[in-house]
Amino acid sequence: MTIEDEVPLSESQIAVHWREEGYFSPSPKFIGQANATDPAIVERFAEDRFPGCFAEYAELLTWDSYWHTILDTSNPPFWQWFVGGRLNACYNCVDRHLAADRNKAAFIWVPEPEDEATVVITYQELHRRVNEFAALLREDCGLEPGDRVTFHLPMVPELPVAMLACARLGVIHSEVFGGFSGAACGGRIADSGSRVLVTMDAYHRNGQLVDHKAKADEAVAEAARQGQEVDRVLVFRRYPGRYSSATPMVDGRDAFADDVLARYRGRVVEPVPMPADAPLFLMYTSGTTGRPKGCQHSTGGYLAYVAGTSKYYQDIHPEDTYWCCADIGWITGHSYIVYGPLSLGTTSVLYEGAPTYPDPGRCWRIAERLGVNIFHTAPTTIRMLRKLGPDEPARYDYHFKHMTTVGEPIEPEVWRWYHRVVGKGEAAVVDTWWQTETGGFLGSTLPALQPMKPGSCGPGALGIFPVIYDEEGNTVEAGTGRAGNICIRNPWPGVFQGIWGQPERFVDTYYRKYCRNPQSKDWHDWPYFAGDGAVQADDGYFRILGRVDDVINVAGHRLGTKELESACLTVDEVAEAAAVPVVDEERGRAVEMYVSLKPGRQASTEIENKVSVAIDREIGKIARPKHVWIVSDMPKTRSGKIMRRVIAGISNFADVGDVSTLANPEVVDDIRHRIQRAK
Ligand code: WTA
Repeated sequence: MTIEDEVPLSESQIAVHWREEGYFSPSPKFIGQANATDPAIVERFAEDRFPGCFAEYAELLTWDSYWHTILDTSNPPFWQWFVGGRLNACYNCVDRHLAADRNKAAFIWVPEPEDEATVVITYQELHRRVNEFAALLREDCGLEPGDRVTFHLPMVPELPVAMLACARLGVIHSEVFGGFSGAACGGRIADSGSRVLVTMDAYHRNGQLVDHKAKADEAVAEAARQGQEVDRVLVFRRYPGRYSSATPMVDGRDAFADDVLARYRGRVVEPVPMPADAPLFLMYTSGTTGRPKGCQHSTGGYLAYVAGTSKYYQDIHPEDTYWCCADIGWITGHSYIVYGPLSLGTTSVLYEGAPTYPDPGRCWRIAERLGVNIFHTAPTTIRMLRKLGPDEPARYDYHFKHMTTVGEPIEPEVWRWYHRVVGKGEAAVVDTWWQTETGGFLGSTLPALQPMKPGSCGPGALGIFPVIYDEEGNTVEAGTGRAGNICIRNPWPGVFQGIWGQPERFVDTYYRKYCRNPQSKDWHDWPYFAGDGAVQADDGYFRILGRVDDVINVAGHRLGTKELESACLTVDEVAEAAAVPVVDEERGRAVEMYVSLKPGRQASTEIENKVSVAIDREIGKIARPKHVWIVSDMPKTRSGKIMRRVIAGISNFADVGDVSTLANPEVVDDIRHRIQRAK
């Protein structure tokens, strides 16, 4: 089966175009305390100061030896930042804060059951736990710098401890979001070549203690199927000493991490000074082909970039209580729960569970109790909380000075509720546009210097020079109202170093489209193609419209249409499948699956369910489609290609475009009647 529309209908084409909004300004109180209040900062990061300007971010860190070259462009687009420099990310996030702040909370963890005690981990305790775990990884598992280890951990303190332990050793961590299925985790284990998996027996979500260990066995089996043996599975227990999973431990392979750790009590492991361009971690994300991409992030460039953006965009001060309620299993959590806030020595809140359980007051109760003053979340969560508890925030006594949104376009209506009700009109709001690949923010407003505009992320971040190109590579000028592909003209320290094991795919996906001269060593010839549609207003602010490729962003989670389609094809009855994005009030976008059956098979709810179950199994529940439509046939070109654009048009009640090239135009009306009647 081939699905290769000449023009796939992408998210950005079904984007709801809202008009440009008016500006909002932060309060004088906010401005008075902000980290960036002098407009000269914008000049310091102007284009004629590039790339030297980024030394300002790097100097927020402690280096074992300084770099000799700030940016090496000799092998485009494999940029190298801070060449010659050495540092340790764990040292920067933990050790260097001990002298002044050993008793300060590094993490405050709030378990889901509200009667379970909050756990405070001071920098001192974090240091100890990270050292013990690092000793275990080195001695029990035999891991060395450059080895990969996969985590499939939920939102528990063991996750950042394990990440920092790897960073201490120069071992590359690859955390797979806990909500992904065992099979999806197994694929990532195989791709990264990990022989160690760190997981947990169970975790709480929506009132249930979810069994998680079963997924580890599936993951190991899937990895083996793909040629990668896992010889060690370390299982943390959600309640140490008490195993909360129905899945047996496997002799010789599985061990309770809390038991093994006891052997390393009090052990200290010296942080290994790593070259700035040594990989720190892999983060897998969906792409246009079935195989997920392991985005490889560097130690020096990445850490400098997240430290700098945490300081100036999130306005983090060491004395703040900062809460980003994303999951650490996504890039947002890596950059802005763990590495950014900890490099600045602040207190970062972690929580288990969901924002709406046991009720939509949960976030505000936590904020009130812990005195959270910086809050960070995604539009999907804001939409959900607004729907379920529009008046809840007023019932709690908390005060945010600053709030971030990330992950999807935010509707101006939703933005205003966030500002007025959640922020009580007092908080500065920053909308941050960026990606797994980019390490940190690309488009946003400096909260005390650039006014907010609902629905727009803002201008390029400090030292980031975005541009919108049309398909031919011509610049789409600001203020024309025309949309195009947003690109970044220059490299920056947080940009990923490559796709693990797939250098050509890296160049093809992100740099080929607008490369002016493949022989050139000049970064000006290598713009970064972000894969998002955008419009730029005449004030320079960008509005992001959504993906222009075969990726659907559901509730802030990136899903590849090809991954969804191949999951459906594992169902015996299914002949063909097509995944399309539809506008969804709560989640921004949702997925609808269209499937046709093999000859002689009858459509039934049972088959629809099988399709959903297959997606749960292959990817995870987050990918579950909003609808599965069984259709008699797919609209196809004469050469047999499925026209996904036509299906997406029908699903969104939009114009289906030109159908004159279809081999079977009659199915368009058949599908339309079927679907539109059912909706
Ligand atoms: C989308 C999440 C509009 C965009 C950090 C991007 C956004 C994809 C915004 C990356 C925003 C992210 N406004 N859209 N503020 N932030 N996106 O890799 O389509 O999970 O390409 O990284 O999310 O998603 P990812």
